[in-house]
Amino acid sequence: MSATAPVLQSAINVQVIPTGAAVGADIVGVDLSQPVSDEAIRIIHDAWMQHLVLRFRGQTLTKDHLLEFSRRFGDLDKAPINTLGKPWIDGYPDITVMSNIKVDGAPIGGLGYGEAVWHTDMSYQEVTPTGALLYGIEVTKEGGETGFLSMYQVYDTLPADLKAAVEGKMIKHDASYNSAGDLRKGFEPVTDPSKAPGAIHPAVIRHPVTGRKALFLGRRPNGYIMGMPLAESEALLDRLWAHSTQPHLAWYQVWKVGDLLMWDNRCAMHRRNAFDPNERRYMLRTQIRGSRPSA
Ligand code: SIN
Repeated sequence: MSATAPVLQSAINVQVIPTGAAVGADIVGVDLSQPVSDEAIRIIHDAWMQHLVLRFRGQTLTKDHLLEFSRRFGDLDKAPINTLGKPWIDGYPDITVMSNIKVDGAPIGGLGYGEAVWHTDMSYQEVTPTGALLYGIEVTKEGGETGFLSMYQVYDTLPADLKAAVEGKMIKHDASYNSAGDLRKGFEPVTDPSKAPGAIHPAVIRHPVTGRKALFLGRRPNGYIMGMPLAESEALLDRLWAHSTQPHLAWYQVWKVGDLLMWDNRCAMHRRNAFDPNERRYMLRTQIRGSRPSA
């Protein structure tokens, strides 16, 4: 074998180093620009199921490396069509660009520089993603951190009355706005959440791999608990969200260039801090196709 030939990386070098929080572990000893053995992927997958969010630091990846590694965990969703009506990167329909950078006045990626509120990706659809991978190519000196919550922990720590109140309930997840609060193309502003368009999912879901129960809230704006008078639904959702988003439950990723993050969208919610628009942030994102959430 020549010195530059790709080496199939075995499981032997893979180490899982938990953050110590309810979510998050660093995976060290893998270079994702090189082929990764099935055994190493099994270790990574097990760690993902246990820690919900994995971080691989110091990676140097092409778009093809990112796609290849992402596909080891399932088929990918197509990237959402951008405001120009096409994928962000020609020839890469499975990659979304997350960026605040503009070229000739036009954004080259989505989500800009503002805050993205706590959310589960695409919970407003019937079939929701298994997870997502986000690769940091240009990162900010300050701000732009990505926060995560374990929705297992959130469920497990619900006060007894809230746990009883949410049992068997179904939540409608509004499709009208994105996590930056922008109205999606083709949607009307929502005045009554009970009438907003979007998928209906159990409030408490069972993870298809781990079998653990997780609270499945989606996002707060325009959520609606089916069958309740709107005021009661709002009051219950407010209590559930206040419990879920207690600062001590969250873990934040502080980005460095070359970080690759992957999260399990079924049991982890995320958000993003705003950052200075004069800083540049450029990330590539893939999304693993999922299934319909079930209780
Ligand atoms: C997202 O909500 O998927 C984006 C997270 C980020 O940009 O940090």
